[in-house]
Amino acid sequence: MSKVGIFFGTDTGTTRKIAKMMYKELGEALADKPLNINRADADTLAGYDFLILGTPTYGSGELPGMSADCQEESWEEFLPNFEDMDLSGKKVALYGLGDQVNYAGEFVDGLGELCEAVTDAGAETVGQWSTDGYTFDASAAEEDGEFCGLVLDNDNQSDMHAARITEWIAKIKDEMGLA
Ligand SMILES: Cc1cc2nc3c(=O)[nH]c(=O)nc-3n(C[C@H](O)[C@H](O)[C@H](O)COP(=O)(O)O)c2cc1C
Repeated sequence: MSKVGIFFGTDTGTTRKIAKMMYKELGEALADKPLNINRADADTLAGYDFLILGTPTYGSGELPGMSADCQEESWEEFLPNFEDMDLSGKKVALYGLGDQVNYAGEFVDGLGELCEAVTDAGAETVGQWSTDGYTFDASAAEEDGEFCGLVLDNDNQSDMHAARITEWIAKIKDEMGLA
C-alpha cells in the first residue's frame, strides 16, 4: 500500500516543524519523510494515494511564495500544477498555520485556497476540523463551523499543538483507512 506523502510550504520553519511532528506521530512504516513543496515536482506528489499538505498564510490571506514577500518559492508557485493533475481516488488531509489575533479577518485563508485547488483536481479531502476553540472574524478555510483541515496557531496557541496533532492524526488514519 502507498505510504502517506507529507508536503509543506513555509517561510520561517514552523510548518516544517509541524510536518516533522506529524511524521513522527504516523511512524516511518506509514509515512515518508516530509518534503518542502519547493523541492517537490508534481509527479512525486501525484505518486501518493494518501497525502498530507500543510501551509502557513502570508501577505494578507495568501499562500506563501514570492508575491507574499517570502524568502523562497512555495505553494504559490506550485499551485498551477494542480490544474494539470488528476487527483481523483486520492485522499488528501490538509493543515494550516495562521495567527487568529493579528489576522482575524483572513485567518488561515491560505489553507482554504490549497483546499480548493486539490478539490478542483478531484481529490477527496479528509481531516475536517471544528472551529471550536478558535476566535476569528473570517476564514476562507471555514464552512458551517468546520475548517477544511487542521488549524494550528503557533503565535497564540502553541501549547495546544501536541494534543491537536495526536487527535487529528488518529482521525485521518481512520478516514484514510490506515488505522
Ligand atoms: C507578514 C506576515 C503575514 C501574515 N499573514 C497572515 C494571514 O493573512 N493570515 C493568517 O492566519 N496568518 C498570517 N500570518 C501568520 C503566519 O501564517 C504564522 O506565523 C505561521 O505560523 C508562519 O508559519 P511558518 O513559520 O511555517 O512560515 C502572517 C505572518 C506574517 C509574518
